[in-house]
Amino acid sequence: MVPTTLLVETAQAFQPGRALDLACGSGRNAVWLAEHGWRVTAVDRSAAAIESLQKSHPAIDARVADLEKHEFPIAEASWDLIVVCLYLQRDLFEPIKRGLKPGGVAIVIVLLMEPGHERSLFRVQPGELVRYFDDWEILHSYEGKSTDSEHHRAVAELVATKR
Ligand SMILES: C[S@@+](CC[C@H](N)C(=O)[O-])C[C@H]1O[C@@H](n2cnc3c(N)ncnc32)[C@H](O)[C@@H]1O
Repeated sequence: MVPTTLLVETAQAFQPGRALDLACGSGRNAVWLAEHGWRVTAVDRSAAAIESLQKSHPAIDARVADLEKHEFPIAEASWDLIVVCLYLQRDLFEPIKRGLKPGGVAIVIVLLMEPGHERSLFRVQPGELVRYFDDWEILHSYEGKSTDSEHHRAVAELVATKR
């Protein structure tokens, strides 16, 4: 399992603390964080993915929850790092912002609208992602071909910290 490069580069610049991986899938990012000193909670609606993650990495607090149904309430001012990688749910951005402690960091990677996918609700428009964090300090903002080894589609990436 290869973690997202952006997560690795970003997390290394912060003191390990409490991290939340939303829509964690196999847990490639959660596992990297846990192996680098973070106390990690990982959430996904796939029971199979969470069961497998729990078995292989018992130190990770892995939870089955449907984020669209808000089955995992993001506790306010509780997290030092929140990552959402390749999952877009627009109404999560405000809870993510409220969930981070001052000085905490959000890492968001979502698919970017490309020709032929103009009607997809699961991709952001150019310039859209950064707007959700326009009152935050933007540490990284990128739109273009992904550098993630797991796929090479067009993405919007954002790293932002609470002032
Ligand atoms: C493309 S995968 C990304 C997985 C992981 N973040 C990564 O980068 O490897 C998208 C994940 O979102 C999860 N997912 C989709 N809808 C969800 C929902 N409503 N609540 C929680 N997880 C969801 C899927 O089960 C899947 O694991």
